Amino acid sequence: MSDLTNKRIVLGVSGSIAAYKSPDIVRRLQDLGAEVRVIVTNGGREFVSERSLQTISKNKVHDNLWDKEAELAMGHIELAKWADVIIIAPASANTIAKLCHGRADDLLSTVILATEAKIMIAPAMNQHMFASSAMKDNLQLLRKRGMLIIEPGFGEQACGDIGEGRLAEPSEIAKQAADLFTSSVLSGKNILITLGGTKESIDPVRFISNHSSGKMGMALAHACIQAGAKTTLIVGSISVNIEKRAEIIHVVSADDMYKAVMKKIKSQDLFISCAAVADFKPKTTNKHKIKKTDHSMTIKLTENKDILASVCQLETRPICVGFAAETENHIENAKIKLKNKMCDAIVLNDVSKTGIGLNSNDNEVHLITKNLSEKIEKNTKQIIAEKIIDKLANNFFQSS
Ligand code: CTP
Repeated sequence: MSDLTNKRIVLGVSGSIAAYKSPDIVRRLQDLGAEVRVIVTNGGREFVSERSLQTISKNKVHDNLWDKEAELAMGHIELAKWADVIIIAPASANTIAKLCHGRADDLLSTVILATEAKIMIAPAMNQHMFASSAMKDNLQLLRKRGMLIIEPGFGEQACGDIGEGRLAEPSEIAKQAADLFTSSVLSGKNILITLGGTKESIDPVRFISNHSSGKMGMALAHACIQAGAKTTLIVGSISVNIEKRAEIIHVVSADDMYKAVMKKIKSQDLFISCAAVADFKPKTTNKHKIKKTDHSMTIKLTENKDILASVCQLETRPICVGFAAETENHIENAKIKLKNKMCDAIVLNDVSKTGIGLNSNDNEVHLITKNLSEKIEKNTKQIIAEKIIDKLANNFFQSS
């Protein structure tokens, strides 16, 4: 089934009479689950009202490269980075020619130059313009550069001609955009991820915590979102940007995290416990700042609840995946954790190795289940996360 869940699409509307169909394109893309932002060129504005596009897309319409306010909120570089796909529909003859030359004299052409997203072009123009050799060469050049051309339809045109050059149907444009993404078995599934470190208060100004940055958890969140899952994040102390497409719940202590997980767990298909939860907390939290009265002090600690193990013991529970941070006897210790916590898989991290794991950008892990132990070679945390999610999807969701 075609699906654009969690996908971010920039729709570029250029100067063709078919621009009046662009609100319908926005709707069709949203129907498949996409979030849409619209850029209109000067020509496009002649044929469609900004108000309609703004109301339907539920976002401000972007139209000016030099708009200081827009550049502060979501400038051309951010828009270029934000998009998973940019669709120009309708793409006028002039816009297509500009793309061929790499011009950057308006917002749309500049965003196209600045983006790494997939680009789709849906031409719409008079049949003779479309049949011209200049247009054929231009489209061939854009194809060669990796852009995808959504072929126009044949039929009666606004000018009264009958021929090829009508904008493809909005539903067809949305379908071709969805076809760019392989539909994952995780599409539409509910995934809950805990990430970051917890803070256990000693007094109003001091706490016990750890070095977790939340990078691995956020990379997993990104991979789940890309796979089309409805993703909820329970976030402790982190030092990475938050994945805005997920539902976010901030927590501080292990107790807070436990409560937040239990509140959300019922509706989940997959639970990934990536947080570095403090195993212990101070037995009591001082109401007032502790004064230095001696040359040493003792803090009595008491054990925190094991969140992952508690979820695994629920009568009805999602597939549960834990992380194991180990410094020695890695595989054996991870297998013991898998068994003791009764979870379905453990992602094993060797935290004694420099350059991977805690706080670094790279990782190297083993995925361990009852029947398998697979190494995922050193790579960026994002690539590792995508591989983990892919393997979990294959192992636990393929036949459901
Ligand atoms: N975990 C948890 N709640 C805790 C402690 C850990 O949910 N109170 C989860 C972690 O999120 C991780 C897994 O359990 O997925 C293993 O965490 P780790 O710190 O490696 O193991 P511990 O169970 O704490 O055991 P140890 O510290 O003795 O290795």
